[in-house]
Amino acid sequence: MEETFQWFRTGKYGLFIHFGLYSIAARHEWVQTLEEISPKDYEKYMDYFNPDLLRPKEWARQAKSAGFRYVIITARHHEGFSLWDSEYSDFTIAHTAYGKDLLKELVDAFREEGLGIGLYYSLLDWHREDFTVDGFHPMRNDETYCKEHPGDMESYRQFMKNQIRELLTKYGKIDYFWFDFSYEGRKWKNSVGKGPKDWDSEGLEALVHELQPHILLNDRLGLGRGVQTPEQFARSQGAEEGQLWETVQTLNNSWGYDRDNHNYKTPEMVVKQLVDTVSKGGNFVMNVGPNARGEWGEEATEILSQVGEWLQKNGDSIYGTTPAPYTCPVDCRYTKKGKKLYLHVMSWPFRTLLLPELGGKVAFARLLADGSEIRFVDTKNLPDRRLDNDNLYQEVTTAHIDESLDPSMVMLNLPVKEPDKFVTVIELTLK
Ligand code: GLC
Repeated sequence: MEETFQWFRTGKYGLFIHFGLYSIAARHEWVQTLEEISPKDYEKYMDYFNPDLLRPKEWARQAKSAGFRYVIITARHHEGFSLWDSEYSDFTIAHTAYGKDLLKELVDAFREEGLGIGLYYSLLDWHREDFTVDGFHPMRNDETYCKEHPGDMESYRQFMKNQIRELLTKYGKIDYFWFDFSYEGRKWKNSVGKGPKDWDSEGLEALVHELQPHILLNDRLGLGRGVQTPEQFARSQGAEEGQLWETVQTLNNSWGYDRDNHNYKTPEMVVKQLVDTVSKGGNFVMNVGPNARGEWGEEATEILSQVGEWLQKNGDSIYGTTPAPYTCPVDCRYTKKGKKLYLHVMSWPFRTLLLPELGGKVAFARLLADGSEIRFVDTKNLPDRRLDNDNLYQEVTTAHIDESLDPSMVMLNLPVKEPDKFVTVIELTLK
């Protein structure tokens, strides 16, 4: 039964957490390679790593109340630093002033709040000497380094297997394993990209399944299967039936903490992206990059909590829903659950909204935010329409109806002022 990944299908909204040594540099999680910092020099960040304000339970509570249903934590990013006490490396959190196994603290805290647990694991490693230098590597332009470090991918593959075994045996049930990433198509002057052969993707996949058979895997091992993970853009269409996918997005265009980057999405944009993705059958994963002291920061906290407030009222239209088979009016998105059809109005229209294909099919309509009735007209109740000025409550008049109503449609009668923030949801109960 678990194979159906119900938690993922119904959860819809996930939280990504990017946290590592790059959180200290505070200028993007790719800082090491963007600035071509040698592995040796990069190690200095270890000396200063001590997130003293980090409260794992607080993070988990915050995530829960912001409406997230699962979390994906960067156990180890491309910089190669492990957030747990790995016996296969000294480049780990256990060797910093923090000293504790942060991954364990986080996994325990999030699990206690009932969130699904995902672990992000980088296939790249810019710190180890056995990982061969390629065009993404910070030392790509240092000929001496490249000569002295030919790399040994066989040894690196074994290292990954050892670490994955640790991650999938020491932290209880993990719901989702998130590899990042394959780039075998890339070519540089002196190197080519890496893909399934370099990682032994099939071997890694088999190992993960052997250790935790119920687990969900993403698609970045490059094997053409797993959860599709388009990042930083909105799909124009969903995927083929049965294919799981999630859009992963940053709040400000950087995954790791990026102090001077204030290019934040508004809560409204986040809600709209979430709605749009879910209406196409995908999940939406939003990222937070906590700072070096372990705080999410005011901007991220504010945006995510506002999205959370919206979900508090409108979550029925998101969690557990699927795409709907009806033609949607302009600037709207549908989702569906049983007899409920949820109409998300992205841009509030004046007074009326015509819903194609729903004539005679709607039993009741209401605003999800406050449960209030939304009156509507369709072929069935045309005789009730306001003919003269005798019913001033009824804002939709014969003129509106004659002008635009075709019997295959339903016409909603909307208040002039948009009743909810960001995106107003109208719940239609179908007959
Ligand atoms: C990319 C980046 C990485 C980020 C990831 C999230 O592959 O390399 O920094 O963690 O996307 O999707």
